[in-house]
Formats: sequence, C-alpha cells, structure tokens
Amino acid sequence: MADLRLPALRWAEPPDGPVLVLLDQTRLPVEEVELICTDVPGLVAAIQSLAVRGAPVLGLAGAYGVALAAVRGYDVVDAARSLAQARPTAVNLAHGVERALAAYRAVGGDGPAAARAALEAAVALHREDAAASDRMAELGRELLGELLPGGRYRILTHCNTGALVSGGEGTALAVVRAAHRAGELRRLWVDETRPLLQGARLTAYEAARDGMAYTVLADSAAGSLFAAGEVDAVFIGADRIAADGSVANKVGSYPLAVLARHHGVPFVVVAPASTVDLATPDGAAIHIEQRPGHEVTDIAPGVPVAPVGAQAYNPAFDVTPPELVTAIVTELGVVSPVDRGNLSEVCSRSRSAESDSGDGMMKA
Ligand code: MRU
Repeated sequence: MADLRLPALRWAEPPDGPVLVLLDQTRLPVEEVELICTDVPGLVAAIQSLAVRGAPVLGLAGAYGVALAAVRGYDVVDAARSLAQARPTAVNLAHGVERALAAYRAVGGDGPAAARAALEAAVALHREDAAASDRMAELGRELLGELLPGGRYRILTHCNTGALVSGGEGTALAVVRAAHRAGELRRLWVDETRPLLQGARLTAYEAARDGMAYTVLADSAAGSLFAAGEVDAVFIGADRIAADGSVANKVGSYPLAVLARHHGVPFVVVAPASTVDLATPDGAAIHIEQRPGHEVTDIAPGVPVAPVGAQAYNPAFDVTPPELVTAIVTELGVVSPVDRGNLSEVCSRSRSAESDSGDGMMKA
C-alpha cells in the first residue's frame, strides 16, 4: 500500500455533517495538514489552488464533490457544473463528476436514496482507481523488464504521479515503486517541475518516505543528464490522452520526450483508461489550462523574482505527440506502438475480460 501518513482524500462523517477531507498538497512537504471541505465552493477552490491535484484523484474529488452536494442538500446540478469546470485539462475530473451525477439521477435525482447512490458511485470509483493503480504497476514493471532486460534502472520522472494523485499508489510512480520494492531501481531522477514544484515538493516527499535513492534536478538540467547517459527510461503520467495517442501532461513533459527520442531512451506514459478521451480526436483539440502569471514571476507566494509588471507564459500542461511515446501503460493493457487503432482496441477491453485472459499486453 501507499506509504502516506494521511491519504490524499477521504470521506468523513463527523456529527455536524459529512465532509470531504483533503491532504493539502500546497503545504507539503513542510507540513502534513488536512483541509476540510464542507461545501462545493470550498472544494472547487481547493482544486484550483492544487490543494488536491493530479488526474485520477481529481476524478475522485469530482465524484465525492457531487456526493457532498447531494447529502448536504445543495443544488447538485449546479455543483456538478462548477466542479467539472474547475480545471479543464484532466479529463478524469469531468468523468468523476458525471459518474456520481448519473448515479444520483438514476434513483430519482432527489432525496437521501439519490444522495446515497452518488456517494456509492464515488466509493466505487475510489476502489477501482486503487485496483487500476496496482495493475498499472504490475504491467509497467513487466514492460521495464522487456525494454531494459536485467536492468537496475535509472528512471526520470516529471511532476507527481504517486499516492498523492490516486486512490492507490498512483500511475508512473506506482511503477517506480514496484521496481524499487523488487530491488530494480538504481535511481529516481526527479524533475523539480517548475513553476509549482510538484516534483521537488511532492515526488521527492513520496520517494523519501519510500526509501528510494532519488535526486532532484532543475528541469533545465535534464538535457545534460541524458547526454551523460544517466537516464535509462522516462516514466510520466497523463491528464488527457487524445484518440490519436497524443498525451497532455504537466508542462515540461514534451521537451523530455524530444530528449528521450534524441538519446534513444524509452518514454513511457502510465495512466488509467479513464484518462483516455476518445472524444478528443488529437492533441490540438486538448484544452490546455493557462494559469496565473504570478506562479512564474514569483518563486513563492508574494516573493517576486521578475520585475514588477513582467508578463508570464504559464500553461499548466503540454502535449506530446504519439510518435514520441514508446508505450502507454493502462490497467487494461500496454499500448505500443502508440496509435489510434491500438489505443482504441485496448480501451475497448473490459477490466474483467482483461483479468480473465491474464494477458495485459497489447503489442501491434
Ligand atoms: O497541475 P497538476 O499538478 O494537477 O498536474 C498533474 C500532472 O500533470 C500529472 O502528471 C498527471 O495528472 C498525471 S498524475 C497520475
């Protein structure tokens, strides 16, 4: 299981009414503080400030948010709309909201039974996400063995893709963790992930708790690390994968893919099938969130490093084209080579069919 002292998110029912409790990721690694959401505007603010962040857990936050609105008697449709729009790129957020809303509507769209149904949908999604994380870890580790036989791997990762973003151990970091447990990880290279430092703050926090050998680097140092032959593979997560296999992930992922290709290093994306959005045809159609400039011009809230009035370019994500991605690991199988046909074939598998066959690999 994930080695977090406090879970990324949990539902609680104290005497004064149900709440959604978040581990406030804006405060890590300095302090482990929980943020208690009693209403939907509070949860939307937590999502937008990245107190809760990362695609799979955003799906859970969306689903529990609908349940929170339902059990507390708020306007559920309005709540669902504001939750789904809180951040635009991670498709899991809208999926989670839709799933809980559909369950709520399926039993009449009003009253305690409907509220219970929304909550049950959120809990089911939570459980499924943990199971998907376990399966991705297994498949990702197998893939590592195929790509780099006999290896003690030096893996580079970007942003944070661990237990903080998941009901389980995460996506890409779950694979790294599985390799670490098996004694196969030589070093985890952790991109700091400017501007909000999800790598330096959060991935390093998780790696340290797990006792991994890890090193944090400035994002701009990655090139020289590849050139020195110090990177065996890149493993990252995804916020939305378009039907053609284009991958939107934390800004800075695309340059890593270009570097990886130049240096002949595998570039692997690990994401649950729920992150694949077959309704988005290609990378150009993915809506990329633009965040406030102060996140770039200030090194910490209220600590500017650029002249007053400096303009900033601050996309939260970038898009890596499918031809630069070696493989996409989902809980339903591994897509490689990455193209429209292979991606849709893996996504059309049902989870039960996949585990019945015992074969998660899809190679074309
Ligand atoms: O802006 P964030 O911190 O929510 O961005 C998160 C990422 O880009 C992660 O890499 C992505 O959600 C995959 S996490 C499984």
